[in-house]
This record gives sequence, structure tokens and C-alpha cells, in this order.
Amino acid sequence: MSVELRIEQALKEALAPTRTAPPRLAEALPYAVFPGGARVRPTILLAVALACGDDRPELANAAAASLELIHCASLVHDDLPAFDDADTRRGKVTVHRAFSEPLAILAGDSLIVLAFETLARAALHAPDRALGLIGTLATRTGAPHGICAGQAWESETAVNLSDYHRAKTGALFIAATRMGAIAAGHDPEPWDELGSRIGEAFQVADDLKDALGTEAETGKPAGQDAALARPNAVARLGVTGAMRHMEDILSGAISSIPSCPGEARLAQLVTAYARRLTGQPVLHP
Ligand code: IPE
Ligand code: IPE
Ligand code: MG
Ligand code: MG
Repeated sequence: MSVELRIEQALKEALAPTRTAPPRLAEALPYAVFPGGARVRPTILLAVALACGDDRPELANAAAASLELIHCASLVHDDLPAFDDADTRRGKVTVHRAFSEPLAILAGDSLIVLAFETLARAALHAPDRALGLIGTLATRTGAPHGICAGQAWESETAVNLSDYHRAKTGALFIAATRMGAIAAGHDPEPWDELGSRIGEAFQVADDLKDALGTEAETGKPAGQDAALARPNAVARLGVTGAMRHMEDILSGAISSIPSCPGEARLAQLVTAYARRLTGQPVLHP
């Protein structure tokens, strides 16, 4: 089964119990998850699980779904008026514009809880590994090392850009590499650097797209970081400096891949992904 199919099926299974929620919430939940964006975090998770042998594919699928659910929840909350006040996401109107602010808050909350329920259900297959997955996802979602901490930097006056990027975005990429290893029964510790490097580079690329791209290209409002005075790589380093910074971060990614059965194939995938990230047409108009 292809990685895309594994992710979509696992997400559909995870969302199935929410069909009986109050009708508008029941509609808002799949609206926030389908159609997806690039599904990059669960793709990385499954690539690492495959590199580590993927001996429990059902657990890896649940882990991939849970990670994407947290990501989708973070987007719903990030778009709220209290944060970025965005009208569009993934080329359609944001959840709070389509359904109301209360329902967007509740949809985000429900998706976060659903992510952990998904892992709890999968614990039947391998309880020890599932516990590791739950702990990792929790650490990278909350504070001090997760998205909540990352978004909270926006309420501070002095912000270190790398700390902000690592927490708001790097966290779920570290979760991706760690969870892929855990799902396949490997030690997650050595996988931090790969996730951290891809995640930080990913946010620099996102800042560049925000500054240089259009809404038609990205499916979300452009120029938001400058308009909202968000700490961002382009404001701190300029376009050329941000590109160089992204390339520097990615240059150490391959050598950070831990030794594992599928190391060579994973190195190829990471190389191809780094090329795609740095060579996007939006960044080279
Ligand atoms: C958007 O993430 C939020 C950031 C951390 C920059 P993605 O660019 O992965 O969003 P989707 O899931 O593909 O829409
Ligand atoms: C991502 O940062 C924040 C999240 C944790 C969701 P951005 O605010 O730059 O993401 P986009 O540009 O809205 O996707
Ligand atoms: Mg935003
Ligand atoms: Mg952005």
C-alpha cells in the first residue's frame, strides 16, 4: 500500500467515531483534515518506520494519523483571530470562517484529543510502543517543547528565532522521526537531529513563501508574517540570508540519519526532499 493511501485510510479510520458528534462539529472535523496539504509529517514518520523495518505497520499507520491530526488542529487554531486571523487555508476558507469561532476552537480541541485516542486504540497491538508514541506526541504538542510553547513565543517581546521555529514547527518534525522509530521498535533518541533539521528548514521555507509567494500558490494568505510582525527568517536574515540558512540547516541532515536497515533509501528520500524544499518555484521566481 502506498504511503499516501496508508495516511488517508488511517485518517478516515481515526475520524470515523466523530460522525455522531453534533452535526456542525461532525462536519467541521473532516473539513479540517480533508483534503490534506502535503502530509509531510506523516510521510516522514512512515519513511522512518520503513527504514527501521516497519514490523508493526498498523501501529505506524495510527502514529501517522495521530501526528497529522495534531498538525491539522494546530492549523485550525493558528488561523483563529486570536492568532493569525487567516481567511484561507489549503485553498479554501478557514474553519472559523466556514463554521464559526466556537466551532473552530472545539474542532481543534477535538482533533487533539482524537489524536491521543487513536494512539490509545492502537495500544492493543503493542502497548509499550504505544506508550512511547503517546509520550512523544504529548511532549511535542504542549509546553515547554511543543507547539503550544512555540505559539506562546508570539506573546513575548524578545524572541530567539531558532527557539521559536524549533518549538512551533520543528517539534512536530521531531515527533515524526521519533514516532517512526518508536512504531518500529527502535530507540527514538538518535532521530532527534534529523527531525529538528528538516523542521527548522521547513519553517524557513514557509517564511520565504510567505514573503515571496501568492495566495494562489500557497492556498493561504501571503505577507502575513510582515503584516503581523511575526519573528521570521526573511525579516531577520533577508531573502538571500534565509535561503542560505535553510541550505546550511539541511546540509547536515543526511549525516544525521542514524544507522538502520533502510538507511541508504532514507538518505535518498531526504536528499530528494531537501532539493524540493530549496528548489521550489516560489523561492526562485
Ligand atoms: C503549515 O504546514 C504550517 C507550518 C508549520 C509552516 P504545512 O505546509 O505542512 O501545511 P499543509 O499540511 O501542507 O497544509
Ligand atoms: C505555523 O506557523 C504555526 C503552527 C504551529 C501551525 P505559520 O503561522 O507561519 O504557519 P502558516 O503560514 O499559517 O501555515
Ligand atoms: Mg499562520
Ligand atoms: Mg507561515
